[in-house]
Amino acid sequence: MEDRPAVHALLQTLRPTHVFNCAGVTGRPNVDWCESNKAATIRSNVIGALNLADLCDIEGIHLTVFATGCIYTYDKALGRPCPEGGRGGEWGRAWGFKEEEVGNFGGSWYSYTKSRVEELMRAYENVLILRLRMPISDDLHPRNFVTKILGYECVVNIPNSMSILSDLLPLSVVLATHNETGVVNFTNPGCISHNEVLGLFKEVVRPGMGEWRNFSVEEQAKVLKAGRSNCCLSTERLEGLAGKYGVVVPEVQEGMRRCFERMVGNGVE
Ligand SMILES: NC(=O)c1ccc[n+]([C@@H]2O[C@H](COP(=O)([O-])OP(=O)(O)OC[C@H]3O[C@@H](n4cnc5c(N)ncnc54)[C@H](OP(=O)(O)O)[C@@H]3O)[C@@H](O)[C@H]2O)c1
Repeated sequence: MEDRPAVHALLQTLRPTHVFNCAGVTGRPNVDWCESNKAATIRSNVIGALNLADLCDIEGIHLTVFATGCIYTYDKALGRPCPEGGRGGEWGRAWGFKEEEVGNFGGSWYSYTKSRVEELMRAYENVLILRLRMPISDDLHPRNFVTKILGYECVVNIPNSMSILSDLLPLSVVLATHNETGVVNFTNPGCISHNEVLGLFKEVVRPGMGEWRNFSVEEQAKVLKAGRSNCCLSTERLEGLAGKYGVVVPEVQEGMRRCFERMVGNGVE
């Protein structure tokens, strides 16, 4: 994406009607990498992502961007309180961050740049911006949020919006082929805490699993370079669009249970 002439030449050769952008740097082993690689993060996630959006605009191509909802943080004063424990989609629709709200989390360079680039990308009329959070696949792929928290010595326990990929990725194709545009919070309705996720995983996938340890956000901050976003997003717009095309996205607790059942079917122990 950073090589604008090469991307332009490719678009002119392939002449696609639609492009999906799943590229971007998230850092290895995690987003702390972006704190010490600020210019490289800008080159990929800002300049590269804008190159592609701009070229798709010039060529009249619809672009779907797999973006992030990790641009918010709970703030009671803003009317966006942190719930106690997971909540359903109704709670999310009432109290979750809506698409038009400007990102209020700048605790990491990754999130700060993602938030700024989204503000700029909104200006393009051919772009659909799908905001994912904590993506979860039907296996224990190393990038799966569940795989990540299973590997941590201690986990925080905060309700969050999450994206179960089997529930959502097919919908991204439906939305793109109908040339939907604008920003959409692309998570399952409602929010679920880390302990609920691990408890459900233990119940459905790995009954013999031992207990895990929690620590506070303050204790977590001591072992991380950058802060982490915790938030619940409103899925009102997503559910409206899904309904328009006859798709039902399950609430996150239900979706997670079904995802873990599929994991068992996929041989995960
Ligand atoms: N993982 C999450 O928790 C999460 C959550 C929400 C949103 N997202 C967003 O989803 C996107 C992908 O994340 P991911 O977790 O799939 O990351 P990933 O596993 O690191 O994969 C990123 C891919 O993007 C490619 N890439 C990076 N910079 C590029 C550039 N300038 N031009 C072309 N390709 C480039 C990488 O290629 P190389 O392997 O060759 O470097 C890699 O194939 C990111 O924009 C991220 O912000 C991720």
